[in-house]
Amino acid sequence: MKAGAFAALPLLIVLAACGGGTETTASDTGGQAAAPAPAAAVAKSGEDLFKKCAACHSVTPDGRNGIGPGLHGVSGRAVASVEGFTYSNGLKAKGGVWDEANLDAFIAAPVKWAPGTKMMFAGISDPAERKALVDYLATLK
Ligand code: HEC
Repeated sequence: MKAGAFAALPLLIVLAACGGGTETTASDTGGQAAAPAPAAAVAKSGEDLFKKCAACHSVTPDGRNGIGPGLHGVSGRAVASVEGFTYSNGLKAKGGVWDEANLDAFIAAPVKWAPGTKMMFAGISDPAERKALVDYLATLK
């Protein structure tokens, strides 16, 4: 409740300024304070976003595989390297390591980054959501 009242304050000042007919510059009203609040309120955490992945991926330290390989410790791990998981030839052919850039590109468009992948997931188009997810994956150590 407190935050809401605070956010409304600059608006009231602007309205009051208009009604009074006095010349007031934008910097006097502190108009910039109101804008960022809604964006922060809808931003989802990586952990929340991972619910989209959890049907196929575990994140527990035992590394249990589901429809997809276990993702505990995936950050910094070699691509397609979990023992006992049968990867597609498409992902195996990529090689390399799951660094931030590769994770971001794969999550953005799995089939585009690794043609022939068997990860049946459309991808996440919002860069901020991907960043949150990649940061979350990096915490799974
Ligand atoms: C419908 C099931 C499914 C969903 C949903 C899914 N994945 Fe996958 N994922 C897979 C499969 C299957 C593979 C193995 C792909 C292959 O071998 O080509 C995979 C592979 C991966 C890999 C490579 C791991 C390795 O060991 O090389 C990463 C990273 C990954 N997924 C992340 C995610 C993230 C993050 C999400 C959510 C945004 C997600 N996945 C959603 C099924 C899924």
